[in-house]
Amino acid sequence: MILDGRAILLASGEFSFRKETCIATEAHKRLIVAIDGPAAAGKSTLARSLARRLGFTYIDSGAMYRAVALWALEAGVGLDDLHRLEQLALAARIEFSGDTIRLNGEDVTAAIREPRVTEAASKVSMAPGVRRAMREEQRRIGSQQSVVMEGRDIGTVVFPDAQVKIYLDADPEVRAGRRAAELGGSAAEVAREMAERDNRDRTRAEAPLTQAPDADYLDSSRLSPTDVEEAILKLVRDRTSNGKEHR
Ligand code: DC
Repeated sequence: MILDGRAILLASGEFSFRKETCIATEAHKRLIVAIDGPAAAGKSTLARSLARRLGFTYIDSGAMYRAVALWALEAGVGLDDLHRLEQLALAARIEFSGDTIRLNGEDVTAAIREPRVTEAASKVSMAPGVRRAMREEQRRIGSQQSVVMEGRDIGTVVFPDAQVKIYLDADPEVRAGRRAAELGGSAAEVAREMAERDNRDRTRAEAPLTQAPDADYLDSSRLSPTDVEEAILKLVRDRTSNGKEHR
C-alpha cells in the first residue's frame, strides 16, 4: 500500500525502502531519526535533506528555543527569570510549515536568526521549565509522525528510544569558519562566541549536549554535505534493516 504517495506499508508491517530514497513506516510505529551535535556541525543541512529523502517531517528543535527567546526579548522577560520563561514556553504556539516558523501565528523565520536571539536562546535553553515544555512538545510531534529531529538532547533525553541516533561533529575552527561565512563578520569573533555557547550547552545541569552511548558518531570536518548525507542514509538503512528492529 502506498501512503501519502511516499511510504510503502508492507502487508507484513515491515519498513521498506521505496526506490532509493523512501522508507515506509508501519502505521502505528513512528520512526525517529535523532541528530545531535554542536552548532554549525552541519545538522540542519543534513536533517532537512534526509527528511525530504525519507518523506519524514523535519523538526529543528533549536528553532523552538529561539522562538521562546525571541518572545522573552520582545516581552522584556529577564533571561534569568526562570518562572516567567517557563510560562512563555508553555504558552508559546510554535508551528513549522515547510521552512517557515511561526510563533503565536506570526512568521518569525528570519527574526529568530538574529544574533541577539542566538545569544538569548543559548541562555533560555538552560531553564529547566523551558526544556520541560519544549521536550513535551517535541515528543507530541514525534508521536504523530515519523521525524528527523535535530538538536542537542534529542537522542539522549527527548527520544532515548529513537531508532536512529547520530552525533554529528566537526572541528571548532571548521564550525566557526562555516558560521562566519554564513553570517559575515570576523571568524575570530564568531569562534569566541560559539565557544561560549558550546560551553553552556555542554556544561548545563539539564540535558547537556553529549553523545548518546548508542549514537553513531560522524565528523563532518572534511566531508561535503553530500558525503555526510550519503553516509547517514546508509546508516539509516542499516539501522532500520527493513523493519527487523521494529517487530
Ligand atoms: O541549533 P541552534 O543553534 O539553532 O539552537 C539554538 C539554541 O538552543 C542553542 O543555544 C542550543 C539550544 N538547544 C538546546 O538546548 N537543545 C536543543 N535540543 C536544541 C537547541
